[in-house]
Amino acid sequence: MTKRFLSVVFLAIACGFLPLLCPAQTLRPVPNAQLASPEVNRRVEALLKQMTLEEKIGQTVQYAAGFATGPNGSKLSYDELVKRGAIGSLLNVIGAEATNRYQHVAVEQTRLHIPLIFGDDVIHGDRTIFPVPLGLSTSWDLSAVEGVARTAAVEARADGIEWVFSPMVDIARDARWGRIVESSGEDPWLGAAIARAWVKGYQQGDLSKPDSVAVSVKHYAAYGGAIAGRDYNAVDMSDVTLRQVYLPPYHAAVDAGAATLMSSFNSLNGVPATANPYLMTEILRKEWGFQGFVVSDWGAVGELLNHAIGPDGSTVARKALTAGVDMDMESNLYATTIAAQVRSGAIPESVVDEAARRVLRVKYALGLFEHPYAAAGAAYVATAEKRAQARAVADESIVLLKNAPIEGHGAVLPLGKWVKTVALIGPLGDSPKDMIGSWAAQGDAKDAISLRQALTERLGDHLLYAKGSGVLSGLDADLLRHTSFIDKPKQEVADEPVPDDGKTIAEAVETAKKADVAILALGESADWMTGEASSRAHLELPGRQEELLEAVAATGKPMVLVLFTGRPSAIKWAGAHVPAIVEAWFPGIEGGHAVADVLFGEVNPSAKLTTSFPYSVGQEPLYYAQFPTGRPAHGDLSHLPADAGEKFTSRYIDEENAALFPFGWGMSYTRFSYGAPTVSRAEAPLADVAAGRGPAVTVGVDVTNSGAVAGTEVVQLYLRNTSASVEQPVRELKGFARVALAAGETKHLEFPLGFEELSFYNAKSERVVEPTAYKVFVGGSSLAEREVGFAVR
Ligand code: BGC
Repeated sequence: MTKRFLSVVFLAIACGFLPLLCPAQTLRPVPNAQLASPEVNRRVEALLKQMTLEEKIGQTVQYAAGFATGPNGSKLSYDELVKRGAIGSLLNVIGAEATNRYQHVAVEQTRLHIPLIFGDDVIHGDRTIFPVPLGLSTSWDLSAVEGVARTAAVEARADGIEWVFSPMVDIARDARWGRIVESSGEDPWLGAAIARAWVKGYQQGDLSKPDSVAVSVKHYAAYGGAIAGRDYNAVDMSDVTLRQVYLPPYHAAVDAGAATLMSSFNSLNGVPATANPYLMTEILRKEWGFQGFVVSDWGAVGELLNHAIGPDGSTVARKALTAGVDMDMESNLYATTIAAQVRSGAIPESVVDEAARRVLRVKYALGLFEHPYAAAGAAYVATAEKRAQARAVADESIVLLKNAPIEGHGAVLPLGKWVKTVALIGPLGDSPKDMIGSWAAQGDAKDAISLRQALTERLGDHLLYAKGSGVLSGLDADLLRHTSFIDKPKQEVADEPVPDDGKTIAEAVETAKKADVAILALGESADWMTGEASSRAHLELPGRQEELLEAVAATGKPMVLVLFTGRPSAIKWAGAHVPAIVEAWFPGIEGGHAVADVLFGEVNPSAKLTTSFPYSVGQEPLYYAQFPTGRPAHGDLSHLPADAGEKFTSRYIDEENAALFPFGWGMSYTRFSYGAPTVSRAEAPLADVAAGRGPAVTVGVDVTNSGAVAGTEVVQLYLRNTSASVEQPVRELKGFARVALAAGETKHLEFPLGFEELSFYNAKSERVVEPTAYKVFVGGSSLAEREVGFAVR
């Protein structure tokens, strides 16, 4: 297989230069034609010939220049290093003025006038902040994702940033992992689709456009598989799982033309990703044909010493560079150890040439040699247009998890005429900084609308507010203070009022009693409880928020729980006792308005979960695409000895197996019904499917809005392969569509299934289709029941 891929890649590269020699249908497309273009490569080669070894190494060096002096406390300023051609890229330099200042040095004062490339963590917007990526993914709306990337790219370019450290495409199946908030959730099929949308929005298929930015797809690879959900922890998984579950989104992003990738902090099966030739060279370059460059994650080359794969900086830097990590972010090891190793013969100079070549290709493709400077623009304003986009995206990203009837009113939501006075209760109700979430780039909490503000706009004096509790209790705050390593979060924890005397809870109860409905705005602190280095061993609502919730519930008032979180929470009690639950994530600058839109029914919710919500933390990692087991808990037990009963089955003795709210779940104010799915044929020839000749089978289904109001349904198609050489998950998502339906309207949908959908990795890591029967399930969540089948023979 490797040989076949090699020849494909060779052909793909050769055909980038001589397209006429290569009939299109015989080739896999070059992932990024600009990086492979003869013009770009001619210029790169000409420049490389003029470069000294030190100048080439300079292209592989990146520093964060937030302050004036150089790395490791050296007396050299960044200006000085840039002038020598010793730096290829800077990160965290923001704004046209600041970036241009360094760029003038690079372009005007260096021997070869090579521009710098400026990178930054633009994750869910640059200035206009949209819902956090996990929230955005629950829209299942690829055009919304693309639109977010587009706005972010335009704003980033105005800030002097040509390179964003986004999208984060790590599959995340463990809610304990803090970085699940940056992900698109647990599913590879959806993750790959969203990854493509990000790349398209940022790069526009043309890096040279003045408002395109190069992406850095991260964190390659399998960072989300950290053992026990603890950030930076080792990852250990089979090659089949790696390829079938974790790699597809990175691969999709590369196929969509991603210009760069970022290596991850974790080790994979014992080899740190940042020094992993299997990932960086065998798969990425040889199999996928990637021609951009790989930057290490922050300090990850230096951290190879902690991974204990070499005795000194020189050894680990050599391992990283020769594995295929082209740029060293902040370790200062490529800068200080590579030249000597080339001179001693320990590293062939061609390895340095190749790394520099890859970096230069991206700089040329971006047009930086022609247009190195950012245009100084007006100061940012969150205009009505930007707000409208942020609100529309947030509206689509809010998941209605539960909406049960209450006495006398039918379903609690949307809030009806009976609601005159609302009690908003909880620490997240009036916290603009939490609305913009973690990794909010240049976003400013001053632009954010809290739920309190949005409800005040609607209700005036009829909105009552009580904080009720902090996010944390004093004890949790102490723990965080102890484990936290950055000053800012410590400060914020210290700033939290820590109401351990129960008075604020009592006040909240009194406030609830005065209102017709209580809206509880509870959850996590965006900044220091979600995102990097924010893994949690507890998934219940932190601090005394559960107590607050139960105390308000005891008043018997109708209530709605609105969650502002960056991960699935274990809300078992709320799931059983609170009639209406809304997951708002960290919804961005228009968050408050968007939540109010949903609460009052001006927006009919359409979002669907992309991560499973557990009953208890002990179920983690929890995901719908489980493997079969010989002793299924709720399957057919007739083959087991009669006395086996339910005991000797694959289950917890003290908890459900299932999710409290499963993948794909999300309610609406209308009802959708599904007709019986059909297949275009009952059997497809194996040879055609394996050769990728057309769709094997097309699944058709009618979806009807059978309720009284217009709504949008995310129709989901799941497959089960019933007999394979390597066991396959009980269900896997292989198609979806967002469909807007007027009340009473029916639409017919079709899902073509071919090699992409039907293949899997066998025990030799080959992607194959085998003769088998497939079950197809279509519906509005991973519990979809409408079923049809077909075979491949
Ligand atoms: C994170 C990356 C980020 C980088 C640069 C690292 O700590 O893991 O996601 O892009 O810092 O800020």
